[in-house]
Amino acid sequence: MRIRQHVNPLKSDLLDIADVPRIEVEAGRALEVELGAAEAHFLIDRAREDAATAFVGVEIRRELVEAVNVACAAAGPANVRSVFANMSVDMGRLFHDGSVRRFFLNFPDPFFKRRQHKRRAINPGLMAEIGRALAPGGELYVQTDIFALALDAMAALEADAAFASAAGAWTFLRESPYVAKSRRERQCETEGVRVWRLLYTKVTAPADRR
Ligand SMILES: C[S@@+](CC[C@H](N)C(=O)[O-])C[C@H]1O[C@@H](n2cnc3c(N)ncnc32)[C@H](O)[C@@H]1O
Repeated sequence: MRIRQHVNPLKSDLLDIADVPRIEVEAGRALEVELGAAEAHFLIDRAREDAATAFVGVEIRRELVEAVNVACAAAGPANVRSVFANMSVDMGRLFHDGSVRRFFLNFPDPFFKRRQHKRRAINPGLMAEIGRALAPGGELYVQTDIFALALDAMAALEADAAFASAAGAWTFLRESPYVAKSRRERQCETEGVRVWRLLYTKVTAPADRR
């Protein structure tokens, strides 16, 4: 199967995906979500550590979504699924308010060219949607090897009263708090590339936001 390397999330058909599901989990079951999950290596690692939690990957390349779901249906883990959706526009359709324990944004696409910066997923609007969907005390973990993207995420989160940094204001984590690794994270380790990591906790309910 041919899988495209990159897609433009602002392409008209990707701004209006017809069959975006509402993510529902059984009462009492926690939900963790990776935005831009690709092959879902990170979520599959997480699921092997924690069979009680539901893990959902959101991915804009439909071929990858299908490949993850076929592989997990055949060989597990049974608590991982991937959904075809655009995190830049579909958060409201995907997630109930306060329904997610953790969001992971592992190595979001950099779109290096200046004229493509508008395609980047990290912006205050996405952070506000993540804050809405997180449960009180829930977490957002971001990691990237692109310093400008790490700073964009940190600036948006520091400006949002719903979030507090686990490492202290304007401070990166020293290392990953997770055993799980994404595919890009493993590649960075192999190549000795520095990774910037942020962990923010939701400290206010949506109604309390200033
Ligand atoms: C650089 S890859 C990182 C993949 C994986 N998280 C990792 O760390 O190995 C970024 C992924 O985000 C996906 N992506 C980019 N924009 C997206 C969007 N707006 N909504 C959902 N997925 C998106 C891409 O298709 C790609 O699979």
